[in-house]
Amino acid sequence: LFAGESEFVKGVVAMSGLPPADRMEVCFAGRSNVGKSSLINALTGTKGLARASNTPGRTQEINYFTQGPDHYLVDLPGYGYANAPLPVVEKWQRLLKQYLSGRQTLRRAFVLIDGRHGVKPVDEEIMSLLDSSAVTFQCVLTKMDKVKDKDRDAMLNQVRSKLATHPAAYPEMVVTSSEKGDGIATLRSIIVGLV
Ligand code: GTP
Ligand code: MG
Repeated sequence: LFAGESEFVKGVVAMSGLPPADRMEVCFAGRSNVGKSSLINALTGTKGLARASNTPGRTQEINYFTQGPDHYLVDLPGYGYANAPLPVVEKWQRLLKQYLSGRQTLRRAFVLIDGRHGVKPVDEEIMSLLDSSAVTFQCVLTKMDKVKDKDRDAMLNQVRSKLATHPAAYPEMVVTSSEKGDGIATLRSIIVGLV
């Protein structure tokens, strides 16, 4: 696992385009710009594999990646604000919700939360959708290199208290910085453990 070449498999714009459900997958969900694509690049050690950018709404399809034959890593379009026309955004949001509630081989959803901003109402909406679809999700705090040490515990506590209200939430979160590499090995071993 996490050895060998990482590869882009395909970009999907409708449920009918999903690859055959022949192996487990984990996905990365979160508000636009939270750092989903950057996290996939850090996990695979491949810069530029998933396209990251400072423009919210960069990822516009469900993008499938592999690194070996065991599992897929799935990069999702963001929710919340995106720099794209409303009808387009609504189309991704529909697809995102269909995917999160209807993909049989989805083993765990990682819900990314910006370490500077914490859990927002849109995040709770997605968490509730995952609760009702019985998809286990785990929070990943991102951009922790931008969070001051003195603010760290308060942030962890805010997220923890929100998670406690969601039955599908895995209680432990992962604290990361894709920029510095913090938490990346931990997240890798969590994914390996799911295969
Ligand atoms: P969408 O595809 O638009 O939903 O965004 P995304 O969630 O895929 O975010 P992306 O990975 O494109 O990152 C957004 C911005 O945040 C980019 O400018 C990244 O360089 C930056 N970023 C991502 N992760 C980190 C991090 O750990 N630390 C810091 N400082 N910046 C980060
Ligand atoms: Mg992206």
